[in-house]
Amino acid sequence: MINRRHFLASTLAASAVPFLPLRALAFDPATAPRLTLPPMLDVTTTGRLALSAMTGQHDYGAGVASATLGFSQPYLGPTIRMANGPLGAEISNTLAEPTSLHWHGLMVPGEQDGGPHLPIAPGTSWTPDMQIGQEPATLWYHAHMHGKTAPQVYSGLAGVIHMTDGRDDDRGLPSAYGIDDLTLVLQDRRFDEAGRSSYAPGMMDQMHGFAGNVMTVNGQTGTVAAVPKGITRLRLVNGSNARVYTLHFEDARPLHLVATDAGYLPAPIELAALILSPGERAEVLVDFSAGGSATLLSDPGRAFIVQDFMTDDNLSARITSLPQSFDSPPDNLAGSEVQTRTFTLDMEMGNMAGGGFGINRTPYDMGRIDFEVALGSVERWIIQSSMMAHPFHVHGVKFQVIKEDGLPALPQNSGWKDTTLVTRETEILVRFDQPASPQKPFMLHCHILEHEDAGMMAQFAVI
Ligand code: C2O
Ligand code: CU
Ligand code: CU
Repeated sequence: MINRRHFLASTLAASAVPFLPLRALAFDPATAPRLTLPPMLDVTTTGRLALSAMTGQHDYGAGVASATLGFSQPYLGPTIRMANGPLGAEISNTLAEPTSLHWHGLMVPGEQDGGPHLPIAPGTSWTPDMQIGQEPATLWYHAHMHGKTAPQVYSGLAGVIHMTDGRDDDRGLPSAYGIDDLTLVLQDRRFDEAGRSSYAPGMMDQMHGFAGNVMTVNGQTGTVAAVPKGITRLRLVNGSNARVYTLHFEDARPLHLVATDAGYLPAPIELAALILSPGERAEVLVDFSAGGSATLLSDPGRAFIVQDFMTDDNLSARITSLPQSFDSPPDNLAGSEVQTRTFTLDMEMGNMAGGGFGINRTPYDMGRIDFEVALGSVERWIIQSSMMAHPFHVHGVKFQVIKEDGLPALPQNSGWKDTTLVTRETEILVRFDQPASPQKPFMLHCHILEHEDAGMMAQFAVI
């Protein structure tokens, strides 16, 4: 069976499996299976990247295989290490249905973005020729077929990208993949009595987003991550369809935030807890130099276990002190905006077509360009959530969060972002540096995938 410590309280959706208490079973980190990371695919020297969407069978840890999808492997995809320069990709689709591959956070023009206007038909491939040019950051890639994003990503069509400039040693940052630089894809999954995962959303799941009853990290459950007795970097990726995590350590050791979605902060920010909504990434440093074990939990009120850690003396601690600063503060976009737009993230609007999900009271329509912005300009966007908090994401840009519910941005949102959780009202400044034609526009949407598929999405051209 799935390790019962990793069952989640299903706060959002009715679930077949009841909530089980935090410490239901004795857990021995010394004998638990070790967390593994996806294989690393380094394309920094080749400038060539090949991925293939495929069907697979994956065991999440229950000893039972579930039907899954993956990129070049049965579930999820490799971690791709990219650097600036030319990158030729070949994405092939061996599935029986169309899919697409969107580079979430990659600054490329609309024709290379991999969104809903770039479907890959079964048995064909998509070969974008890209020119990468951006700051180091943790990005991700995932399927983005309109109406199919939720089931395809849930089944496993997602992976992580490390943008690197090769200068992490100068910054004093851990960078040994799988040793002191760990990539953690956080996903909650729903398992049936037989221990199989399947995606069958009911009406409440469509409304609130599909929540699981078991926590998985990199497609595994009940594992312990081995770390050196020193500073470890965790690259946290919320690859869940709908769940928002409030991450904190059981022993209250701090998380030192060093990077947000789109790049490094000027200096680490010490946090007691980090909120991570679907689509967001964060890089944190954690001090394990005292040795022993530690547990990463989520949700203050009803804590559940995300990942256990244990130091291993066989792993060499390369970094033993926290770096003081990395990069100069980001250019301040304030004052350069040429236009203000307001977006409401709507749900349950009675008689509106499309099941009540939309932006500005309008469900997404692939055939309609909602607005156009000027290439190179900066705009102020005000985003308003209805009914619940929604993670808001924009393609092809990075933005600065200016205000949240009338207050200055949370410290964790002070860096460059491409996705942010809008509780009630958030104000952002966005700079449009990449072009997108009306034929291959950029998307803005809620990253609760059930909401996105149901129409809480809009599209714009950058000309
Ligand atoms: Cu991560 Cu439009 O998506
Ligand atoms: Cu995106
Ligand atoms: Cu939403």
